[in-house]
Amino acid sequence: MNSEAHPSVPFVLSTRAGRTADQPIGFLIATAFANPHIISLAAGLVDYETLPSPETRELMTELLTDDAVGRARLNYGTTLGLPGLRAALLQHFAKLDGQTVGEFGASAEQIVITNGSQQLLALLTEALVDPGDIVITGWPSYFVYTGVLMTAGAEVRCVDMDEDGMVPEKLEKLLADIQSAGQLHRVKIVYIVDYHDNPTGTTLSEARRPVILRIVQKYSANHRILLLEDAAYRELTFEGEPPRSIRRYESNAEAGSHQVALLQTFSKPFAPGFKVGYGLLPRELVEKVGLLKDNLDFGTANMSQHLVFRAMTSGLYDRHVQVLRRRYHEKAKCMLTALNQHLGDFCAGETHWTQPHGGLYVWLTLPEYIDTTRTGPLFEQAIREGVLYVPGSYCYGPDPVRRIPRNTIRLSFGTATLEHIPQGIERLAKAIRKVDRR
Ligand SMILES: Cc1ncc(COP(=O)(O)O)c(C=O)c1O
Repeated sequence: MNSEAHPSVPFVLSTRAGRTADQPIGFLIATAFANPHIISLAAGLVDYETLPSPETRELMTELLTDDAVGRARLNYGTTLGLPGLRAALLQHFAKLDGQTVGEFGASAEQIVITNGSQQLLALLTEALVDPGDIVITGWPSYFVYTGVLMTAGAEVRCVDMDEDGMVPEKLEKLLADIQSAGQLHRVKIVYIVDYHDNPTGTTLSEARRPVILRIVQKYSANHRILLLEDAAYRELTFEGEPPRSIRRYESNAEAGSHQVALLQTFSKPFAPGFKVGYGLLPRELVEKVGLLKDNLDFGTANMSQHLVFRAMTSGLYDRHVQVLRRRYHEKAKCMLTALNQHLGDFCAGETHWTQPHGGLYVWLTLPEYIDTTRTGPLFEQAIREGVLYVPGSYCYGPDPVRRIPRNTIRLSFGTATLEHIPQGIERLAKAIRKVDRR
């Protein structure tokens, strides 16, 4: 037998790897790099100018002033996170919901700190979902989480969204249909981005929150379905008061019966470079998530956790969130004004967009005959005009009984400057008018 390595022999990939598809984000970033003149309204990245560089330098110096303490901070931490930070985050959750920690009905042991909230989404999914299980998401929904579901081998079923977020009657109907088909045992997670949703920019209304919770409880008679509340953009509310979390509606629930995992992150309201996310989990899931995290990294970067902890206790975090709210408010107004100016008179009734009160996104719907997909004429024309958007078609999970709309667009005002946002919208409107062939 020839002992030399044979380069043409393939690796046999796992079925998990086989199910893991290309994420659109890679293609969009590559397109932006290949076209440096382009204005990207695609990237869901944060505002660049306000990233807290000088503040972080100061924090870093402070954290390393004493070498003995500094060395401990540069060492490994623990799997579930820095104990002081977990306690502070519990207080933070309670405060955001206008409660004391006691009223909130949770303990710091239920807080898990992860490498971004994305990691916690993946860990919870790994803990609960086997191939063939069902996960319910919005229609549309956050596409990177859909990628996690694909890798897990989940069947994705979707629920319509409107200006008030996920429509409870549609969720109830879907669960009732699944039950009638004898398939309820396969439903493991209902996933909702309930503040300033990625991609739609909408927020689940206060009135719908307890209703959604009750529906998930109702269909959990034989096994508990996790209500996965992804509140990544909650703290970036720039208009009005954000509603209470869905988790707030089960503050009084008995220990051992919580339905909701509430996830937040430092990436959007502070800086993604720390890549620190966190969640409050039902008690029964904490240990397994910890064991799965042991396999992955046995702990989130200790130094990052110390930095965000110090930012919280020094007041810097709160001050920074205020700065960001003002900044994104200004940017959102700028984008909405430009949309009105350049598309306000375009196909009235068939062209509309959402009005976000926070976060980074506006969801634009065009007449059905305008194909916004990556292979359609508008995407190419937009690049020629010098603007990049996310084709809305990427944001719909592969629900087996639905047809993916081809006339929607996700726009972000996160990373483009105040000067570029109106220019980008003007270019987009120009591209739309050029491909408009009624
Ligand atoms: C809805 C939503 N959830 C979670 C995340 C994950 O962010 P991170 O892992 O940086 O906390 C993102 C990032 O864009 C997001 O948009």
